[in-house]
Amino acid sequence: MISQSRYHELLKILSEHAHLYYVLDTPVISDFEYDQLYRQVAEFEETFPLLSDLNSPTRRIGGKSSAKLESYAHIQKLPSLGNVFDAIELRAFYDRVLKALPQEIIIFTVEPKIDGLAVALHYRDGQFKVGATRGDGYSGENVTQNLRTIRSLPLTLTSTETIEVRGEVFMRKSVFETFKDQFANPRNAAAGALRQLDSKVTASRKLDIFIYQGLYSGITTHHELLTYLKELGLPVVPDVQRCETFSDIQEACQTILNNKESYDWGIDGAVIKVDEKKWQDELGFTSKSPRWAIAYKFETEKAITTLTNIIVQVGRTGVLTPVAVLEPVQLSGVSVHRATLHNQEDILRKGVLIGDRVLVQRAGEVIPEIIKSFETFSHSRAFEMPPHCPECQTPVLHVPEEVAIRCPNFDCPAQIKGRIFHYASRKAMDIEGLGDKLVEQLVDSGLVHSLPDLYRISMETWTSLDRMAQKSAQNIYDELEKSKTKLFSKFLFGLGIPFIGERTAQLLAQVFPDMKTLLSASYEALLNVPEIGEKIAAILTQTLSAPSFQDMINDLTELGLSPKSDAVLATGKLSGSTFLFTGTLSHRTRTEAEKAVVEQGGKIISAVSANLTYLIVGDSPGSKVNKAKAINQKAGKSIIQILSEDEWVALL
Ligand code: IVH
Repeated sequence: MISQSRYHELLKILSEHAHLYYVLDTPVISDFEYDQLYRQVAEFEETFPLLSDLNSPTRRIGGKSSAKLESYAHIQKLPSLGNVFDAIELRAFYDRVLKALPQEIIIFTVEPKIDGLAVALHYRDGQFKVGATRGDGYSGENVTQNLRTIRSLPLTLTSTETIEVRGEVFMRKSVFETFKDQFANPRNAAAGALRQLDSKVTASRKLDIFIYQGLYSGITTHHELLTYLKELGLPVVPDVQRCETFSDIQEACQTILNNKESYDWGIDGAVIKVDEKKWQDELGFTSKSPRWAIAYKFETEKAITTLTNIIVQVGRTGVLTPVAVLEPVQLSGVSVHRATLHNQEDILRKGVLIGDRVLVQRAGEVIPEIIKSFETFSHSRAFEMPPHCPECQTPVLHVPEEVAIRCPNFDCPAQIKGRIFHYASRKAMDIEGLGDKLVEQLVDSGLVHSLPDLYRISMETWTSLDRMAQKSAQNIYDELEKSKTKLFSKFLFGLGIPFIGERTAQLLAQVFPDMKTLLSASYEALLNVPEIGEKIAAILTQTLSAPSFQDMINDLTELGLSPKSDAVLATGKLSGSTFLFTGTLSHRTRTEAEKAVVEQGGKIISAVSANLTYLIVGDSPGSKVNKAKAINQKAGKSIIQILSEDEWVALL
């Protein structure tokens, strides 16, 4: 039997390992070793029940059940948040905050709004004591026993802090898979599980929690407080971004919205908070919610309206896209009169005819789209894609294996406009003032055929343009000058090379600091860049070697373009190795796992081949394992290393 001091030491050790396993996803001992330690603790407690600690890991499951959850009066009220649903309302919140404070630059934080249930948790001297649901904000239900079953929640903090923290209890989407026959959504499943009378049932539902607030006076900003809570061992809400300007805030919200599906938990919006405590205190609360925070809710509002016509737009890569013309309808406070229809197949699948009443939806900031036909009439008629480009009349091209139909004319005015507009856009070169109207005017007047032409326009010509005031002319001229030394990744993305999105451009720029090195890169060198596969490498090689592309780069260089190099990523310990996952991982999503590999310099590839270094095998793997074994057998040695998820984690 272990001694009492060893018992307390083991409690601490087990708590650290639980944190490594459940919160940081990086266990350092095997399940077997953990169980050995756990058993010694359990044995001690059985022999000396009076000496056993309330926060022992053995107490996570099977605490006492009661007939009814007790009510719990919160020491400090849990307010709710005000909501905004679009950029205009968000701007109004931002303006309100700035107007009320005596300073011009206010830092905000933007973080995901977790779709679950709010709880308050009390730690005394570093020990978890009591936790309760929000209820009406003044009193909720005591769910302490049930909260104890949440593995990522530490029962003992890393220091003897006395603190109230608040967070959101939720069920992971991957866990919900098992319960989807019983509950409508993960949120309902989590609510049901947390309010169980028997905590064994709660334990079986594998809940999770993220902490987003702490009542603590020692730290002066929200983001630093979150860092401190993390140091205490608490699972803190991830991906908190700090923002200085309104457009930063908007971008941060958009990023959360765009990535919403890649998380293993539900996100129903973004929460925007004033970072500094002193400004939070100055702003205070209304009767319901703080004036220093707001929830930006991602709502998908739907409406029914008439589809009056389908027109065809030509994008910068020449793809023809059918666009629905709608009888204007209000959606999330905006009048919608256009919606995307993607392509001909999409129209057929949705059974949409011109003249129909259709169901339209608009989710957050994205372009409205038609979901389906709601009502068809005898006068409704089918739509067909035109045989010619509607902008330049060139016969269109059906690319085999692609649904898209393209205009093959590189000089098509619609494509030129699209390319310039993309180059000037915020995520690319961010040339303020060069909006769609101006681009249209420049191309239609024949002043601009290509990107270099933009830099050939003199100050006199800018001033002579229709509806262009002297000041705007000067601004745009200055903006273009400024763009000459923007980051190489921005420039590369701005060129609009097929399949080179923002992220790929960044990854390329981390390996090739400028256009000169990129232009001389071999196909193999491109293939070595994280996340770049054969298809992209081939397209890039083709583009980079095209004389027209090289001429354009030469022209731009002669005109003074000299993009700044991005910070070059230090090569990680996995660089040079390739990875492929098969089957279901138990501790993380596929996306999370792949991200971890890429962050350490490894590369994800899509199929088993002799180029593969590691195959990581989860539950119910597919045929990839046999294929890898076959390759190894044929080679007579282990070319591909086949690892379990745990072995892979050890490698990381
Ligand atoms: S902050 C005083 N941050 O959203 C500030 N709330 O609609 C209190 N929620 O009751 C809330 N994720 O249950 C905050 N990152 C986050 C959140 C979050 C989810 C919930 C919370 C709150 C509700 C308001």
